[in-house]
Parts: sequence; structure tokens; C-alpha cells
Amino acid sequence: MRWLLWIGLVSLGAYAAEVVAVGDRYKDSSKCKACHNHIVAQWDTSWHAKSHYESDEYFQKTIDYVVRKNHKSLNAVKVECATCHNPRIAVTSTNADYEAIAALKLDKGTAVDKALHSDTISEGINCVVCHNIDQIHDNLPDNKRGINRVTWIKSGMMSGPYADAKSPYHKVEPRDFMDTNPNQLCFVCHANDSSEEGLRFINMQAEFQNNGKLCVDCHMGTRKEGVAATLPDKNGQQHKRLIREHGFKGAHTETMWQGALDVDVRKSTRSLEVTLTNPQPHALPNGFGSREILIEAYYMAGGKVIKTEALSLSTHYLNKRDKPTIPHLAAKSMNSVSIPALGAKTFSLPLVASADAVSVVVSYRLVNDEVREMLELKDPIWSKKMMIKKLNLKL
Ligand code: HEC
Ligand code: HEC
Ligand code: HEC
Ligand code: HEC
Ligand code: HEC
Repeated sequence: MRWLLWIGLVSLGAYAAEVVAVGDRYKDSSKCKACHNHIVAQWDTSWHAKSHYESDEYFQKTIDYVVRKNHKSLNAVKVECATCHNPRIAVTSTNADYEAIAALKLDKGTAVDKALHSDTISEGINCVVCHNIDQIHDNLPDNKRGINRVTWIKSGMMSGPYADAKSPYHKVEPRDFMDTNPNQLCFVCHANDSSEEGLRFINMQAEFQNNGKLCVDCHMGTRKEGVAATLPDKNGQQHKRLIREHGFKGAHTETMWQGALDVDVRKSTRSLEVTLTNPQPHALPNGFGSREILIEAYYMAGGKVIKTEALSLSTHYLNKRDKPTIPHLAAKSMNSVSIPALGAKTFSLPLVASADAVSVVVSYRLVNDEVREMLELKDPIWSKKMMIKKLNLKL
């Protein structure tokens, strides 16, 4: 047994992420403002900028819940999640020795404690996460993500889309994953994630169906004329470039949901058939577990609502003891009902005999009732119904 453990440790060691310190001149987005203020302002509104413990209530309460249920130290769980949520962290794992010290609250000043309080990680997924990636190692097993899948470029060098860029503040290096192959960059983190029990609750890369569009086409917008840097060149001119937006708009932005699914409602002899067709290259809901699509039907007679019916499409999770839990602690999942990429699903609702019309509203919520209550999420964004489509039908 001992040699098995030893091999395990050696191979883990071989994959261990290498930490490269970020120099003070580049450590946060404020250092980029002088010349890329427009980009910093867009990024600042994104959920990449909120991907950490202090800025995302859902993330914070999920970590706290894992700590409570699994009796781990808060810092150990923070380090685990930093793999993708905070990948410039200076420590990449914690061990049993650390847990013992943390249990006695003697961990002040340890490498782990320092890493978690460093300015370098105070912005989550910032400029020097994406633009300091040197190489992405797609030969690694598919569960090695985030920090464990990349090597960092030397501090002071920025990887970007242009081969001919020049900057007085930093060196530049062109990379395909910033230009012709950006999906490779997004899949560093948006590929899969598993619970503490090994259950996969995100599987975006495996479910992806190429429809000719890149992640950035939809989540950073098409390339438009603008400037990459506002700093004028020698002739006092700003350099015009084709650029994209850095807001990374997605599931938290209501306008993104408008028309995200096609909805068709038909009356059959005994029921109302609602077909949801997904034109996107990934399933919806897809990302994080416990996201929800709601189908609500308002039955009317003479212009008045006489009855309502609702159907919740959401994955529910059970722990080892078959009790409801959050995705990160799940041993199994139930009713996985997301609409597959470029696919469709039909759902039935009852007919109401006295109704002469029905209004069907399809919307999305970031967290279903079960998990929202379990974690006591307070911010209204988690329960907000974001409209996808509304259809009226005469019966
Ligand atoms: C003093 C001005 C200045 C500062 C400060 C600055 N940059 Fe730049 N940066 C430039 C200029 C100029 C370019 C080239 C623009 C062009 O060629 O159109 C550039 C280009 C880039 C590119 C594109 C490189 C490529 O090859 O495609 C990236 C990425 C970038 N900067 C990131 C950053 C980040 C991140 C920071 C903050 C840590 C930063 N820059 C700070 C001036 C600056
Ligand atoms: C999640 C990854 C990611 C983060 C975080 C990120 N960028 Fe980018 N950035 C990209 C990608 C991808 C492109 C290439 C877009 C394209 O196809 O032209 C890009 C392009 C750029 C460019 C070239 C001009 C443009 O807008 O296309 C500059 C300059 C730049 N980024 C600066 C920054 C700065 C400054 C920050 C932090 C405020 C930042 N980026 C954060 C992924 C990222
Ligand atoms: C270093 C890991 C990492 C990389 C690389 C990365 N992301 Fe993300 N992304 C995340 C995490 C973590 C979140 C969740 C943040 C949160 O909600 O707290 C996220 C959130 C998002 C969201 C959801 C925003 C919302 O409002 O729901 C979109 C869209 C997104 N990323 C697009 C992209 C695209 C496009 C790329 C490639 C250019 C990319 N990401 C690269 C880790 C990453
Ligand atoms: C053809 C456009 C399109 C492309 C390409 C695309 N998406 Fe999306 N994506 C959407 C739409 C529309 C939604 C639903 C509204 C929203 O969240 O923006 C969505 C939702 C998401 C979500 C939230 C999912 C959820 O259920 O909460 C994430 C994360 C995401 N996309 C990431 C990606 C990544 C990573 C890629 C590339 C591998 C990608 N998307 C490619 C259009 C696209
Ligand atoms: C393999 C990379 C990866 C790891 C490791 C990871 N996450 Fe995430 N996480 C993501 C991505 C990518 C998203 C965005 C998916 C989406 O929006 O649908 C995300 C989104 C989330 C969200 C939803 C946030 C929101 O605003 O809606 C929560 C909560 C979350 N993660 C918690 C955690 C916790 C807790 C850990 C550690 C136990 C963790 N994650 C580890 C990649 C990761």
C-alpha cells in the first residue's frame, strides 16, 4: 500500500502548479488604468471581478457551508476553490499539518494565511490571470483545471491578441488562445467541476457542440473598432484596433436571457405542450448546479387569471445520506433537466377546462428555492426571475 501512496504523491508532485509571483507594478487592475481605463471599467462590472469570497455572496456562503459540514478549515476550502476563482494565489494546496495548526488557531503568519490576505488575489479573475498565461496544458487529465492547467508567463509580460503591439509599460507576447482559439482559454476553468464526493456537477466542455461561434463572440461581443490602449503613439495618434468588450456578460445579466431559448406552446387534447429549443452551443442551464429554468402558465377566462401552474427545471442534489444538499457536497443528483446544446425538450402542463387563453412565461433564476434557503442567500439577485420569453395562446 505504501508504494501506491508514494507513486500517488510523486505523480501529484509532477502536476503541482508552479507559482510565479506577480510584480507590484502589475498586481491589480488599478495599475492598468492609465492606458486601458475603458477595459478596466468594463471588467470591473463583470462577475470575473466578483469571483472571490468578499464579493460574491453565493460563493462565500457555499464555502462556509462546506466548512461547516466537512469540518475543514476555512482557509483550506478557500485555497481549494482558488484553483479557478483566484488562480494567482501563492499556495496551491494545504495538508494535514496545516489543518492541525488551523484547528488550534495558530495559523496566523503561515504561508497559507499570507497568501489568502495578499493584494494579488483581492480581485479574483483579473487582468494578470488571463493575460499572464503562457501555456495551457491540454495534455493533462481533464479534471486538472485553473491554476493546475496553465504555466504563467514572466511578470511584466502580457499575452494578448496582437503580434505587433508595443507598450512602454510592459512587454507583450501574442498567443493563439487570445486570438484564433480563445475557447481554449475559457475551458481552462469553464470545463467541468466536481463535488467533494466526486460527482460532476458542471460538464460544459464535454457538452459543448460547436456551432461556429466562439465563447467570446457571445460573452465578450463581436470584434469592433476601438482602441486597445488610450496612450497616444509618437505621432500623437491613438492606435485603432479591433477589440472586444470585457464585461463577460452572462447568467447574472437579465438582458442576456432575452430569447436565449426558443419557446413553442401547443395545445394537445389533454395538455399544454411547451417546447424549449436551445440554439446555444452549450446546455442551459449549464453552468453551476442548482440554476433553474421556470415555466409558468397563467390560465385566463374573460381576461382574468383563474389558475396558475409552474414547472421548475433544476437539478437537485443529495448527500451520502440521501439528504438534500448543495452541488459541492453532492454524492448524487436528481431530475437533471437542462436543455442540451442545439437540442430541444418538451414539457407538459395540464389544460384548464374553463380557460379561454393562456399566457406562458419562461424565465431563469440563478439559484433554486432549495439551495437558496439552505444557504440563506439574501441578495435579491439570486431569486430574481429573468425573463426568457412570454407567449400568449388562445385555447
Ligand atoms: C503606460 C501605458 C500602459 C499601461 C500602464 C499598461 N499598458 Fe497594456 N498596453 C499599452 C499599449 C500602448 C499597448 C499596445 C496597444 C496597441 O498596440 O494597440 C498595450 C497592450 C496591451 C495588451 C495587448 C497585448 C497584445 O500583444 O495583444 C494587453 C493584454 C495589455 N496591454 C495588458 C495590460 C495590463 C494587464 C496592464 C496593467 C497591469 C497594462 N496593460 C498596463 C500601454 C499600457
Ligand atoms: C477571462 C479572461 C480575461 C480577463 C480577466 C481580461 N482579459 Fe483582456 N482579453 C481577453 C481576451 C480573450 C482578449 C482577446 C479578445 C479578442 O478576441 O480580440 C482580450 C483582449 C485584451 C486587450 C486587447 C484589446 C481588446 O479589448 O480586445 C487588452 C488591451 C486587454 N485584453 C486588457 C485587459 C485588462 C487591462 C484586463 C483587466 C482589467 C483584462 N484584459 C482582463 C481575456 C481577458
Ligand atoms: C481562471 C478561470 C477562468 C477563466 C480562464 C475564465 N473564466 Fe469565466 N468564470 C470563472 C469563474 C470562477 C466564474 C464565476 C464567478 C462568480 O460568479 O463568482 C466565471 C464566470 C463567467 C461568466 C458568467 C458571468 C455571469 O454573469 O453569469 C461568463 C459569461 C464567463 N465566465 C465567460 C468566460 C469566457 C468567455 C472566458 C474565456 C475568454 C472565461 N470566462 C475564462 C472562471 C474563469
Ligand atoms: C452563440 C452564443 C453563445 C456561445 C458561443 C456561448 N454561449 Fe454561453 N451562453 C449564451 C447564452 C444566450 C446564455 C444564457 C444567458 C447568459 O447567461 O448569458 C449563456 C450562458 C452561459 C453561462 C451561464 C450558464 C448557466 O446556466 O447559468 C456560462 C457560464 C457560459 N454561457 C459560458 C460560456 C462558455 C465558456 C462558452 C464557450 C465554451 C460559451 N458560453 C459559449 C450564449 C453563448
Ligand atoms: C474547475 C474550476 C473551479 C473550481 C475548482 C471551483 N469553481 Fe466555482 N465556478 C467555476 C466556474 C467556471 C463558475 C461559473 C459557472 C457559471 O456561472 O455557470 C463557478 C461558479 C461558482 C458559483 C456560482 C457563483 C454565482 O455567482 O452564481 C459558486 C457558488 C461556486 N462556483 C462555488 C465554488 C466553491 C465553493 C468552490 C470550492 C469548493 C469552487 N467553486 C471551485 C469554476 C470552479
